[in-house]
Amino acid sequence: MAAYDKLVAEAAADYQGYWGRLARELVSWKKPFTKVLNDSDAPFFKWFEDGTLNVSYNCLDRNVERGLGDKTAIIFEADDGKVTTASYRQLLAQTCRLANGLRSLGVKKGDRVVIYISMSIEGVAAMQACARIGATHSVVFGGFSAQSLRDRIADTGAVAVITADQQVRGGKQLPLKAIVDEALALGGCESVRHVLVAKRTGADVGFQAGRDVWLNELLAGQADTCEPEWVEAEHPLFLLYTSGSTGKPKGVQHASGGYLLHAALTTKWTFDLKDDDIFWCTADIGWVTGHSYITYGPLALGGTEIVFEGVPTYPDAGRFWQMIQKHKVSVFYTAPTAIRSLIKAAEGNEAVHPKKYDLSSLRILGSVGEPINPAAWEWYHQHIGGGRCPIVDTFWQTETGGHMITPLPGATPLVPGSCTLPFPGIQAAIVDETGKDVPNGQGGILVVKQPWPSMIRTIWGDPERFKKSYYPEDFKGKYYLAGDGAIRDEKTGYFTITGRIDDVLNVSGHRMGTMEIESALVSHTELVAEAAVVGRPDDTTGEAICAFVVLKRPRPTGEEAKKIAAELRNWVGKEIGPIAKPKDIRFGDNLPKTRSGKIMRRLLRSIAKGEAITQDTSTLENPAILEQLAQTN
Ligand code: WTA
Repeated sequence: MAAYDKLVAEAAADYQGYWGRLARELVSWKKPFTKVLNDSDAPFFKWFEDGTLNVSYNCLDRNVERGLGDKTAIIFEADDGKVTTASYRQLLAQTCRLANGLRSLGVKKGDRVVIYISMSIEGVAAMQACARIGATHSVVFGGFSAQSLRDRIADTGAVAVITADQQVRGGKQLPLKAIVDEALALGGCESVRHVLVAKRTGADVGFQAGRDVWLNELLAGQADTCEPEWVEAEHPLFLLYTSGSTGKPKGVQHASGGYLLHAALTTKWTFDLKDDDIFWCTADIGWVTGHSYITYGPLALGGTEIVFEGVPTYPDAGRFWQMIQKHKVSVFYTAPTAIRSLIKAAEGNEAVHPKKYDLSSLRILGSVGEPINPAAWEWYHQHIGGGRCPIVDTFWQTETGGHMITPLPGATPLVPGSCTLPFPGIQAAIVDETGKDVPNGQGGILVVKQPWPSMIRTIWGDPERFKKSYYPEDFKGKYYLAGDGAIRDEKTGYFTITGRIDDVLNVSGHRMGTMEIESALVSHTELVAEAAVVGRPDDTTGEAICAFVVLKRPRPTGEEAKKIAAELRNWVGKEIGPIAKPKDIRFGDNLPKTRSGKIMRRLLRSIAKGEAITQDTSTLENPAILEQLAQTN
């Protein structure tokens, strides 16, 4: 803790000096920067503005030059258990071939490339190849539907899409290329000139001559070396879409220099990554965790990491533990949802209990994506960490680029359920609605008082929305608004995140906007008149999606209600993706509304939870509706 305090003091005494020092130590610059922070156009902050670099050079070439060419960069384990590895030299060569291939198709600096592929060495190489030529990638999670994929392609104006014929998860072959075809056919994606297709299963897929290119054929003719495009530090490295409180997902834009710095720095300090570690982050590259802690952070440090194609429950719920044993994983980073579902599985079946496996290689455990409840924390600590591994409960967001509040292992005394203290240099605080600091022990709104290098730069194509969402006038535009509530412990000052303060749900660690799901439901114009979506607590997924629906026909009951609910669930799955399917759907003749017509969501939240309504309902237009909605329980 003395070392932690020293870093915090260094940042407090000379904020720019602190970040400048770390940026020189961790990032290799082509042209060194002379200025750390430009805040003249706040909140559009610029970091290391006059420096140039290449992120892929930092993650690959630099390690080969340091003598790590033969070191394993990636251990890939396929769904069926087959293992393939790539050394730094091999990953560099693969990235260069793909970068050359993209260039040969005319893709250049500043172009956007959408990547829609499952967990694979190709996926990581595709992101690195974009970074190498200065193209801005936007990875879309393989579980998103054609409609969601189309919206993202259209919003980015991508010139190319990189995908695979299929993906394999849990023993099943699932489409990728077919969904890309469907997305492009929906229209609005005229910017796309090429679709690059990796062969994963060899399945027969549609092929449009002139547009579609087999990746293996494209790569066959390409050189193993490729001069990186040296870009300015602020050059957009990637766009990643995430849910906010309005209907339309927002393209969070990250820069190159500052982002890489924080991805590398947090991997180094939060995971204490050492040369001989085997690091495993179980996130998908379609989410920000996979960007920072698979594609960029660990590779920037020359680490060895696992990339896993499959799911934690296939062929059985012992898969994670079996893989930790097999690959001697030393640092393991996963989500509370996974832990909770594996606790359930282990309690029901001795054979998949972690005690059946040798987990002695582990030294650090991590948690991310949602609050970890103390019971799951204890189980993780005892049964996975053998009571000896520190757990780093890392709070951060797509917008923050890397860890914001987290223990540093071995230094910060741990408290289950608390993400403890801000990462050195991050000025996290809790304030009230007017921006005034609240005393410890009193909950409030989580903000960050100073800009930091890996922060969101803007929302792609919508700078006004960026300002409104993250630098609202309530705080005079001065503080970054995270969108979460938090409370600090009276004695220790430790932070505990109390959950979102906006209309964003966290289902299995996935962010979902309630408005997004409502829009999907009402877009079924034949059936649905009106819909309201709220969250309710769920033992496994953290939160579950509950939809209240008014149909254009009389309220269904019994079998008919079940049938329509199933149809609507599938509809949402098609509109957004399976992760957005409501768990509960209830039908009513109407929704609880105020006399001015506003839906009273807090009442719906109580009903969804199965709670008695104790709130004031005097402003309700139609109080009888509450009883009807509660009955459909
Ligand atoms: C939540 C994922 C409590 C929070 C990296 C945040 C957490 C949202 C934690 C961001 C944590 C993430 N404890 N809550 N350790 N980590 N969250 O953008 O509500 O997918 O705002 O980024 O997840 O989700 P996102």
